[in-house]
Amino acid sequence: MPLRHIVLSAVAFLLLFAAACDSPADDASQPESPPSQEEPQEDVEYRWMPDGDAEKFLAIEGQMGGFSKSMRRVGYRYNELYWAADDQNWDFASYQLEKLESELRRGTVRRPGREASARSFLDDAVPALQEVIDAEDGEAFEEQFEEFTMACNTCHGQEGVPFIQVQPLDHRLSPVRELSQPAREDEEE
Ligand code: HEC
Repeated sequence: MPLRHIVLSAVAFLLLFAAACDSPADDASQPESPPSQEEPQEDVEYRWMPDGDAEKFLAIEGQMGGFSKSMRRVGYRYNELYWAADDQNWDFASYQLEKLESELRRGTVRRPGREASARSFLDDAVPALQEVIDAEDGEAFEEQFEEFTMACNTCHGQEGVPFIQVQPLDHRLSPVRELSQPAREDEEE
């Protein structure tokens, strides 16, 4: 073999070897695999998160709040539900009741001690109101809504906050209204 060929073969071998070192066999066979998720993200600067995983989760738990956070949302749903039925917007009333129910359930996940009191409300008061909404019966709704309100307040008594007595507001908070209904004159004044 002429010397020139030997030198060329050696150079080619060295180039191939170098390429193999740069890209290990695993990477070469999966060129599109995403970068590892486990690399520490040292450039993240938390605004208020404490150090340590456990401390972080505790901080988030604290910020999520307890039952009163759910109750404020329940209070909003309760009022909108009332006004949706007043509009005869039964689909919206149904929607509000569904959201009210899931908010109450989420509250009992965060405060399991309240679950027993919530159960009778969820098993009785909610389905009874759903029934009159499904029947699209305005008069029956009025009556059943009074029962529903009493069930809210009964639970407040049972759970040590008897001073929280609810009743629907005399105006809605949401801008949603039944399109076929003009804005009420008494609200425009
Ligand atoms: C499981 C029992 C239970 C049921 C059912 C219940 N509540 Fe409550 N509610 C509570 C408790 C307990 C508090 C006080 C929470 C706290 O301070 O941690 C409360 C507080 C509230 C508050 C005050 C929240 C605040 O912090 O400003 C409102 C408003 C409220 N409830 C509305 C309602 C309405 C409306 C219903 C019915 C649709 C209802 N609740 C049903 C237990 C209940």
